Amino acid sequence: MTKSNDFILEVKDLKKYFPVKKGAFRKTKKSVKAVDGVSFSIRRGETFGLVGESGSGKTTTGRLLLRAIEPTEGSIIYHLDKEYDLLSLDKNAMKEFRKRAQMIFQDPYSSLNPRMTVRDIIAEPLICAQDFDRKTITERVKSIAAKCQLNIEHLRRYPHAFSGGQRQRIGIARALVLMPDFVVCDEPVSALDVSIQAQILNLLKDFQEELGLTYLFIAHDLSVVEHTCDRIGVMYLGRLVELAETESLFYKPLHPYTEALMSAIPAANPDEVMRPVLLEGEIPSPINQPSGCSFHPRCRYAEELCKHERPEWREIEEGRFVACHYAEKLSLLGVDSYMNVNV
Ligand SMILES: Nc1ncnc2c1ncn2[C@@H]1O[C@H](COP(=O)(O)OP(=O)(O)OP(=O)(O)O)[C@@H](O)[C@H]1O
Ligand SMILES: [Mg+2]
Repeated sequence: MTKSNDFILEVKDLKKYFPVKKGAFRKTKKSVKAVDGVSFSIRRGETFGLVGESGSGKTTTGRLLLRAIEPTEGSIIYHLDKEYDLLSLDKNAMKEFRKRAQMIFQDPYSSLNPRMTVRDIIAEPLICAQDFDRKTITERVKSIAAKCQLNIEHLRRYPHAFSGGQRQRIGIARALVLMPDFVVCDEPVSALDVSIQAQILNLLKDFQEELGLTYLFIAHDLSVVEHTCDRIGVMYLGRLVELAETESLFYKPLHPYTEALMSAIPAANPDEVMRPVLLEGEIPSPINQPSGCSFHPRCRYAEELCKHERPEWREIEEGRFVACHYAEKLSLLGVDSYMNVNV
């Protein structure tokens, strides 16, 4: 038993390159570096946020952690009822692992099979696990559906009869029916109305407290993660650029990309003075990544060095990791002064 370990999951130098086929003979020429060497650990019972613009590699990272896709390189170690070295598990160990780690998807419309009843959708993970008799399956489905505030009559219906919020409750019931330890929540509220978002976030929080769950929570803007996550990793073009406790990150971002993402959060109070949005242009293609620091073409602090040398991923304060040549300099500046200075 490794329950004493503080971390439920340790990821080292994880990479996923998708080959891109081009030309008349569809020869593999280049690859999309969707995830390009990320390392982080997730603490038992915490909500770890992963943020970044569209295409930064968040979903790919989440899928790699569940071995829904095979990595190109790297290691993923879980400390659950025992240690699982995810990339070298035999068939039986993989079956065990599947019961302990699940995923909640972004789009509650496309992630539920329209030809299955709600009961069958929620029961599917139990049936796949092959460890449960009919009676147990029925009981478990009813119990988790009730906890997700779905009525018994709902179980006989098909997903099209439900609203987005209710569909996401079905998705959550399916992910939690096996009582997992770890859940990847891939933008679970992005497709929902703001009024419904809070209900779903509260439901996830209640389950976390009741079951001691650990979440990887993926989002593409910082406003959702501020109140849901204990720690946050910021991704840009397949790499982590900053990782910190939520409070420290919001108090003072140390990577110019985090700072730019933060400037894009709309002010909650309409009387507040609008801050300038510091993020311009589009995220570059992950096939032809910029040289040096991949953020340099959009960075307002970029110097010559940034064009040629990739910054090292390093711990600059306890538990705080940054990949920027000038992170130490930025950390010495006063809070908010970063909005006006040039390094
Ligand atoms: N199966 C695939 N084959 C080829 N390229 C892929 C595949 N899956 C993802 N990619 C590419 O990898 C990069 C990262 O994609 P990913 O879906 O992980 O990003 P994301 O951060 O989740 O974005 P979003 O916020 O839009 O969901 C993108 O450029 C995407 O086009
Ligand atoms: Mg995604």
